[in-house]
Amino acid sequence: MELTKRPRRLRGSENLRKMVRETRMDKSSLMYPMFVMEGENKEEEIPSMTGQYRYSLDRLPYKLEQLSKAGVGSVMFFGIPDHKDEVGSGAYDSEGIVQRALRIAKEKFPELYYVTDVCMCEYTSHGHCGVLCGHDVDNDKTLDLLAKTALSHVDNDATLNYLTKIAVSHGEAGADMVAPSDMMDGRVAAIRECLDKAGHYTTPIMSYAVKYASAFYGPFREAADSAPSFGDRKSYQMDPHNSREGLKEALTDVEEGADIIMVKPALAYQDMIWQVKEATNVPVAAYSVSGEYAMVKAAAANGWIDEERIVGEMATGAFRSGAQIYLTYYAELLARLMDEGRIG
Ligand code: PBG
Repeated sequence: MELTKRPRRLRGSENLRKMVRETRMDKSSLMYPMFVMEGENKEEEIPSMTGQYRYSLDRLPYKLEQLSKAGVGSVMFFGIPDHKDEVGSGAYDSEGIVQRALRIAKEKFPELYYVTDVCMCEYTSHGHCGVLCGHDVDNDKTLDLLAKTALSHVDNDATLNYLTKIAVSHGEAGADMVAPSDMMDGRVAAIRECLDKAGHYTTPIMSYAVKYASAFYGPFREAADSAPSFGDRKSYQMDPHNSREGLKEALTDVEEGADIIMVKPALAYQDMIWQVKEATNVPVAAYSVSGEYAMVKAAAANGWIDEERIVGEMATGAFRSGAQIYLTYYAELLARLMDEGRIG
């Protein structure tokens, strides 16, 4: 048969397939999100995220050692404080959980790169990512009423003050990079200005710019005990139906000085990874979030899928779409798959 094109020709052997591979990945692109908590000798498994733990600070070095040995280059810290209040004061306390974690981590494993999530939701008693308008809401207002008004309840501009305090305190504690995840308007500019004033002008900002109001965050909220106690996050996180709005967020944050733009979640939003890459000139990060991890784990536990191949494909998809950084709870597994030449 006369065929002018035989695409299969280039798929004939493993050597050839690797030679013509379009997407190449390496371990330095992997970032591992981890949860640090108060207490001693604690390694609590997160029920909805089998294989993922919350670590007390004395256990943290063991995990960092494993990551370092596996060749995972960077870590993102999330703090789980013992005490929460209306304005999330624990988040910017110099003795807060993330601040202490940073000091330990930087001292023991300086070869790793430490990024911190800058947000209030893990630290606020109401679980929202900002301060509420009139947070002295009198007690007569029922939760139900609050729920109804929740959409307008997080005060954007008041929240910025707190976010900048958090970012600066992370910088002081040694964060290599800060990553605001709250979705308030103007926060990148506000954080940049305060970091610079405090002398941290070399600390990059990775903005969770294209962050959707997603059910994929469910397991994380259990892990970090950060589910909103009323209402939802739809007045600040984005509507999954929108892509142009995502570009507006990304471009605005780049203008405000974001060094890296993140798209989150990854799996259902690969079009956004691609579009942000095309529309901006900064590196793009993709966050494969807790729900993505939980779904794969659950299906694998039932023997319904091949976990390693699925995880490899999900990562490949994110990189093929244009991500340069991939945040994933599967970082160690991916590092091994890359070492073994099974992906990459
Ligand atoms: C904080 C934050 C969340 C995640 C990262 N930073 C939760 C949320 O926005 O509700 C989710 C990460 C994950 O699901 O793995 N705002």
